[in-house]
Amino acid sequence: MIPFSLHIPTKIYFGPGRVEEVGDIVKQYAGRVLLVTGRTSAKKTGVLDRVADRLREAGVEFVLFDKIEPNPRTSTVDEGGRIAREEGCQLVLALGGGSAMDAAKAIATVALSGLPIYEYMSGNRTGRWKELLPIQEALPVITVPTLAATGSESNSTAVITNWETKEKSGIRGPALFPKAAILDPELTYTVPANYTADGAVDMFTHLYEGYLTGDEHAHVQDELTEGLMRNVVRFARKAIERPDHEEARAHLLWTSTLALNGITNAGRGGSYPVHQMEHTVSAYYDISHGRGLAILAPAYFRLIVLEDRPRRLARLGRQVFQVTAGDDRRAAEATIEAFEAWLREIGAFDTLKGVGVRREDLRMMAEETIRVGGKGEKYLAGTRPIGVEEVLRVYEAAYE
Ligand code: NZQ
Ligand code: ZN
Repeated sequence: MIPFSLHIPTKIYFGPGRVEEVGDIVKQYAGRVLLVTGRTSAKKTGVLDRVADRLREAGVEFVLFDKIEPNPRTSTVDEGGRIAREEGCQLVLALGGGSAMDAAKAIATVALSGLPIYEYMSGNRTGRWKELLPIQEALPVITVPTLAATGSESNSTAVITNWETKEKSGIRGPALFPKAAILDPELTYTVPANYTADGAVDMFTHLYEGYLTGDEHAHVQDELTEGLMRNVVRFARKAIERPDHEEARAHLLWTSTLALNGITNAGRGGSYPVHQMEHTVSAYYDISHGRGLAILAPAYFRLIVLEDRPRRLARLGRQVFQVTAGDDRRAAEATIEAFEAWLREIGAFDTLKGVGVRREDLRMMAEETIRVGGKGEKYLAGTRPIGVEEVLRVYEAAYE
């Protein structure tokens, strides 16, 4: 196992109905907050009114910022940051999916510094990372996820898109860890089948990327990861069959949190090549992040992982999809088939063409993936470093 440091400071309040405690929890940190949410779902489901009522009862003043789009944009974040500053908000409360939570973290950063969020996103290229990254100062954040997917509720990452330059990238830092996360699975009952499936694929991807690319001797982490992956496969089916299935929704929400809060990759390392390739697709075509991952993964497995680490892929299949083939190569191939069958079963299987990507954009997107995701290098880390040509092969294989 690789030596590691791990710090997970977010206080978790988990359980059905716990959103009712939001007023009392927020009050421990602030008396005036910016309430950040998406444009539609929180109003439609009634959860926004519930949260607003609980805040008022607890005597917490709030300013509503309900403009967050899926794949949240720098312009929206900058506007939210300005409002939080002008209104004297002391904390940012996020209510929604990964987009609302990521936007809230970015708004909390901008509110304090007054700098546009793009300065942080481009810090690695401009050389300003030394002063700006990792982010050390921001207003405190509290998260109330309404969708099980990203793990943003308790991690220190925010993924933001600059729509003008078509760059989507993550910013990180200790200041972005939410102070508290209220995980109420009942809030996810209204998530439609397509986003339930995409969310399941997202958490599954957070789990397999480190598992397939990281060190092979972190046995505790490997077994944790396999157990979590089995839970995703099992409960995604159930939540899609019956959206108010309490056990399924609870397990998906808790798994999404554990899948990207640092625990599984500590001591194992690993990288996120499928995520890097996906971020370019959703930056250009504004598609659901989880759907983009579902589109790219089988191609990445076939072209890259099957060649580099068939034993690891075989183990994933044996542990998660009941693959029985004794030969590793055959078991690895069977794993890809079983994974694809699961994607089809939950309705997440798709192609780049199917979501409207133009074939003539693929090379430019491959170049952008390396420029934005390569962190100054000419490749993405993974089971082996891959450059523009190999990223392009993955896009082409995932095209139709
Ligand atoms: O936009 P609203 O009206 O809020 O509706 C949303 C949105 O349309 C809807 N929704 C959310 N909760 C609902 C609901 N509909 C009905 N009932 C509910 N309870 O679902 C749609 C998708 O929401 P969104 O927040 O965009 O999805 P998700 O949670 O998948 O977040 C995606 C974003 O997170 C980033 C992605 O790149 C993308 O920008 N990621 C963040 C990560 C992190 N912070 O660690 C890691 C991830 O890998 C990912 O990159
Ligand atoms: Zn993800």
